[in-house]
Amino acid sequence: MSAPFPVPYPAAGLPEAVTVYEVGPRDGLQAEKQLVSTSAKIDFITALRQAGLPMVEATSFVSPRWVPQLADAADVLAGLGGDLSAHPVLVPNLTGLERASEAGASTIAVFVSATESFAQQNLNTTRAGAIGAAQEVTARARERGMRVRAYVSMCFGDTWQGQVPVAEVAHISRELLDAGCYEVSLGDTIGVGTAGHVDALIQAHQRLDIAVERLALHLHDTYGQALANVYAGLRAGVRCFDASAGGIGGCPFAGSATGNLATEDLLWLLAGLQIRTGVDLDAVVRAGAVMTDALGRPRSRIAAAMLG
Ligand code: HMG
Ligand code: MG
Repeated sequence: MSAPFPVPYPAAGLPEAVTVYEVGPRDGLQAEKQLVSTSAKIDFITALRQAGLPMVEATSFVSPRWVPQLADAADVLAGLGGDLSAHPVLVPNLTGLERASEAGASTIAVFVSATESFAQQNLNTTRAGAIGAAQEVTARARERGMRVRAYVSMCFGDTWQGQVPVAEVAHISRELLDAGCYEVSLGDTIGVGTAGHVDALIQAHQRLDIAVERLALHLHDTYGQALANVYAGLRAGVRCFDASAGGIGGCPFAGSATGNLATEDLLWLLAGLQIRTGVDLDAVVRAGAVMTDALGRPRSRIAAAMLG
């Protein structure tokens, strides 16, 4: 049991409420070799929504040859049924958009890379080619009345290329917002970012007149910096943070991407700061533990502390 912790101590100058955008069923599962059944995925997504998470990214309509774990994307959406607006799905190209549309998706996420090397590794194209594809998918999706989120990967550093200039990332975000995306999620795909870097990246966006309300942070915890980086993001005014229940996940094409920031760890920090999320921490801990136990992965730090 967590009560009476964390003791609430609000800090001045932080947002009163934030959105926690759950990516466990997509980013969490995509690299897992052991196939998870469609019904277990649906149960996981349903439990996370019932815990109060406002957005639960459900799956990807990418090539099943590239990501076999998510080959059942259409079946997952069919199993969820009803209004799918709270369940964005990843779409890499027009083929993916057709598949997502047929399956009933109404919110999608396009994804590009801040670097040439990762565009090749992840999407088999150039950086400009990936941005062009995302712009085209966004335009077609908007014509169909869909909402489109965007990810930029390798914003804080790249496995092959090394450092990534913040101004280049901001320029790509500008292009994606101009194309009609409602939000850009800045990915620390390999978890190398630090708190000052978060600040510099947000400031680079502000120099291009991108309001911080249009930005989210998507942090992997590879080097243990994710929560410090969330705090830097909060201080800079960011109000949407991606996280993965159980801390599972990573991109299979990123070289060294390990676990995402665990949703439970994020919720603990936010509860301590008295920042509203509308999410039930205990329910997320239970849902995350069911999945990590099934995968044979270690529980998140918060789940381990609360459940043993
Ligand atoms: P390609 O091999 O160059 O594809 O891959 P292609 O266009 O040459 O087509 C090859 C075959 O794939 C064709 O079939 C196409 O029809 C089919 P064939 O004629 O050989 O039978 N195909 C598809 N099938 C189903 N759905 C589709 C699709 N597209 C083509 N959408 C491609 C190019 C983009 C398809 C591939 O590179 C791909 O799927 N990449 C996705 C990789 C991925 O999912 N990575 C993980 C997600 S990104 C991430 O994790 C980062 C993030 O979390 C943020 C962060 O952490 O930074 C978002
Ligand atoms: Mg990711």
